[in-house]
Amino acid sequence: MKVIRTICELKNELDLCREKGKSIGLVPTMGALHAGHASLVKRSVNENDVTVVSIFVNPTQFNDKNDLMNYPRDLDADCRLLDGVGAAIAFAPEVEEMYPEPDTRQFSFAPLDEVMEGPFRPGHFNGVAQIVSKLFYAVEPDRAYFGEKDFQQLAIIREMVRQLGLKLDIVGCPIVREEDGLAMSSRNMLLTAEERTRALKISRTLFASLDYAKEHTLQQTKAFVEEAIKATEGFCLEYYQIVDGNTLQPVEQWSDSDYIVGCIALFCGKIRLIDNIKYKEVR
Ligand code: PAF
Repeated sequence: MKVIRTICELKNELDLCREKGKSIGLVPTMGALHAGHASLVKRSVNENDVTVVSIFVNPTQFNDKNDLMNYPRDLDADCRLLDGVGAAIAFAPEVEEMYPEPDTRQFSFAPLDEVMEGPFRPGHFNGVAQIVSKLFYAVEPDRAYFGEKDFQQLAIIREMVRQLGLKLDIVGCPIVREEDGLAMSSRNMLLTAEERTRALKISRTLFASLDYAKEHTLQQTKAFVEEAIKATEGFCLEYYQIVDGNTLQPVEQWSDSDYIVGCIALFCGKIRLIDNIKYKEVR
């Protein structure tokens, strides 16, 4: 696997691949890779001739300086993982390479970015759109792979691709969970042992709510999750929203949509975790 640091070198390398008719898959990441990322890379390796994995902790999507500072980084471990799953290129630029000058672009994804993460993380999705669009211009992939754990991000990236008229497929991949059910996240490694045990309550509550939802209204199910999370010491709930999976707007009743997803964000101690569960999905 090649580790590339500059856009110029990356473009030269990928031009050679395209000249040979090779398809390109991109997996954008912020590093601190785990089995969830590995599953995205494996999918890309299966579906493309060349897989590029970007590793870049993007400063413009952090609205909390401490969060940016404490975000886990371990390029050597990341490269070992990527080597093992067949990635061809790890693209690991410095901040100056991606932002030689401040990116002043302002995106609007309303109403997708006005709900859930939107009010709690002002500017976050604008920063995500800035970096992901830069990566798409640099790599020009045929397909790009994103996890459904960041459910709102995935919908917004699809919308960004539509707005910018880009020609690539966005592939959403299912959440990968630890054996005990906790959704995999680079932030999990920041949890203390006690918080890690407590964090289990998130997926357990969401899965329990699937059963509960069979016999209860949507509002009762929402309250079931909210109450269980609020009753857990050490948790601070930001939101639990049950939304239409396409528009991300809250739904009132189970009959309101064929695609209904519950999305949660909370602090477990100082660590912010998100997760989601599908109540209804008609494919
Ligand atoms: O999901 C992430 O890890 C990041 O938001 C992304 C898509 C790599 C952009 O920095």
